[in-house]
Amino acid sequence: MPLPNINPTTTNSWEKLQEHFNKINNIHMKDLFAQDSERANKFTIKWDDFYVDFSKNRITEETFRYLLELADEVNLKEAIQSQFSGEKINKTEGRAVLHTALRAPKDAKFYVDGVNVVPEVHQVKQKIQSFTNEIVNGDRKGFTGKPFTDVVNIGIGGSDLGPAMVVESLQYYKNHLTTHFVSNVDGDHVNEVIKKLNPETTLFVVVSKTFTTQETLSNANTIKNWFLQSATEGAIAKHFVAVSTNIDSVKKFGIDVNNIFPMWDWVGGRFSLWSAVGLSISLAVGYNNFDSLLTGANKMDEHFKSEDFKSNIPVVLALISVWYNNFFKAESEAVIGYSQYLNQFATYLQQGIMESNGKSVDRNGNPIDYETGTLIWGEPGTNSQHAFFQLIHQGTKLIPADFIGFVKSLHGNKDHQDKLTSNFLAQTEALLNGKTKDEVVLEGADESIVPFKVFKGNKPTNTIFINKLTPESLGKLIAMYEHKIFVQGVIWNIFSYDQFGVELGKQLANKILQEFNISNVNNHDSSTNNLLKHYKK
Ligand code: F6P
Repeated sequence: MPLPNINPTTTNSWEKLQEHFNKINNIHMKDLFAQDSERANKFTIKWDDFYVDFSKNRITEETFRYLLELADEVNLKEAIQSQFSGEKINKTEGRAVLHTALRAPKDAKFYVDGVNVVPEVHQVKQKIQSFTNEIVNGDRKGFTGKPFTDVVNIGIGGSDLGPAMVVESLQYYKNHLTTHFVSNVDGDHVNEVIKKLNPETTLFVVVSKTFTTQETLSNANTIKNWFLQSATEGAIAKHFVAVSTNIDSVKKFGIDVNNIFPMWDWVGGRFSLWSAVGLSISLAVGYNNFDSLLTGANKMDEHFKSEDFKSNIPVVLALISVWYNNFFKAESEAVIGYSQYLNQFATYLQQGIMESNGKSVDRNGNPIDYETGTLIWGEPGTNSQHAFFQLIHQGTKLIPADFIGFVKSLHGNKDHQDKLTSNFLAQTEALLNGKTKDEVVLEGADESIVPFKVFKGNKPTNTIFINKLTPESLGKLIAMYEHKIFVQGVIWNIFSYDQFGVELGKQLANKILQEFNISNVNNHDSSTNNLLKHYKK
């Protein structure tokens, strides 16, 4: 069954939501809380170690009902089934979308073209496990017989952001190996990393689904040339491994066939950290932790697949986001993790969310006249409080925000954890209530300064409170956002799993690269022609 093809704006629920929005648009959440002492309980989902409070949103029970009706009217249930059953829902590329199969248990069944892919997935997991153990335990050694000390992941986009974010997030669980990530085609990036490396003790993991990506191949070649200054060609087999679907090109690059970790075209780049693309995660934190990450994601998959929509975390978060995006016309969403470990989380989500849902053509190929993908941004709390929170609190823009926090800290410093958590809770309270003129006056502020100290409040937030940052809970959190992306793509009637939007710039860059060797290039617009000349000078 293909994905449903329904223009959301033609549904009854959309019309109801529009009318309802016109009525409640100006209601203050403060009043909604005052009217209903049960509000927080009604709008909280407790699931496993997740406590998701979505009561601080500009919604009423009626809003929620219409949003749930919208999910039904766009046939979300069927769409979820189509995804999990291996339908080629990535229609524009003719592919199934089965990153969920990568974290499924051994006895699960996920079919692509009638073949259960789970046994193959588990064979590759087995290979990741034994390879990881040999490197971490020092059984596999470099060309001079020394154990490995450093791992370099060479990849970009989905072949970099996911592994880099997870390794950073799970820093607490890290082993003795130092992990580096090289992604940018900017030669200064690779050279800065090389500076820190000893060729005798460094393992290079070249990650590229297509093995055609300019950045990754350039960086891999630069590193290989640097490596060959100290080693012979034969040593490459000990130090270079690859993760790719393009086995022939990997072999041509010179990587030993035994050092290739396969992946599949039914895994999208931005959803691939669960595959061998996550090899650097496994090397950094050990295979068992990598496996726990997958277990967590699988638990979220089961929740998403089977839970009623009204208590289904990814569905509820997606619906609320549609509410702001399409009715309040909010342009962006912030994700604020109250944990320094989540430093790269928003950056990671930017690819997942914006590459997937940054589309303006519907599933019929027609231009869309409603809003789709949101801008996503964020930084950890409390640092971000001292950076951009001013604008969220008192600016003119509506910025719905997800606040992600952990009940327990990993190093167990209670004093810090109490301070962190008090900020985590206080910010969503402040965003909800704001501060009235009367309150400012009561505080004794000078009359001339009063307007500047007023906070309107009524700024929406979701609180995602998780017991502790573990590989498993991180797996759940990432999968939660993956499913949110899917739900929104279904509602907006777009194809979330292609990324043709990144092609045009790549093509033009290749053309311009050739033109650096040609004199008097004048075939661009005058701005580009001038800039080209300026560079060549
Ligand atoms: O930026 C486009 C993109 O295709 C991403 O979707 C992908 O994650 C990235 O490039 C890297 O691609 P590859 O893994 O094939 O090198």
